[in-house]
Amino acid sequence: MTVDWNLDGRVMVNWRNCDWQPFPDRRNLGWYPIRSSSRPDNGFYLMNIPSDKPAPRFGSTVREEFIVLDGSLVDSDGLELVAGDFVSYDPGTIHHAEARGGCTLLAYMTGNFVGRGDPVNLADARKVANWKTADFEPYPGLPETGNPLMWHDIRGNPDTAEGFYIVYFSPGAFSAAHEHTGYEEFTILDGNLTDSDGTTYRIGDCVSLPPGSIHSSWTETGCITAGMINGPFRTLAKDVTLPSPPDS
Ligand SMILES: [Fe+2]
Repeated sequence: MTVDWNLDGRVMVNWRNCDWQPFPDRRNLGWYPIRSSSRPDNGFYLMNIPSDKPAPRFGSTVREEFIVLDGSLVDSDGLELVAGDFVSYDPGTIHHAEARGGCTLLAYMTGNFVGRGDPVNLADARKVANWKTADFEPYPGLPETGNPLMWHDIRGNPDTAEGFYIVYFSPGAFSAAHEHTGYEEFTILDGNLTDSDGTTYRIGDCVSLPPGSIHSSWTETGCITAGMINGPFRTLAKDVTLPSPPDS
């Protein structure tokens, strides 16, 4: 079956070499907006917290989620969040964190800041999983297309695949062709992944695909990535002809 791929409007940056800009209202922090307005309260962006600079204390009306890409930070209750952690806070959670040795985060914000306040009981409001130690189970969002495609659910909807979770493509795995009705955003944490236009995403790449994207992805090496899916997607075809595999 022929599929009309669509990756128009894709934004892609590697956090290891991005051009850091001042974080709005906190100019001692760095940020790189991938999908964001002029303010960092709703979007998908990179954030760099230098050593001994506290992260802003805030709450958000909907969701605050991030992946620790490098370094570590200590949350309000003393829990150390380390590289590889996926962190999800319930809506409205107020907390603050300190990056004693510096850290880099990939933030996924769906809501608006509601201001400052006292931290809540984070043990109830926060979920944390590290991709290096997570257990995986079959991914429910797409039909099986060959080698296993797995997930570790953090805040995912198994019926629509919307949410925030860790994805493991086993070596040789590929996703069925599908169309996104909302944004699909991810980063590559291990291995690499090739998209339907032949672009290979490598460790450190952070990618935002807009609504209307139509694609299929596959990997020879295996891959750990993140699912940050806003809006359901629909499977178009399982029996598509895939481009040549990556040369690395
Ligand atoms: Fe997708």
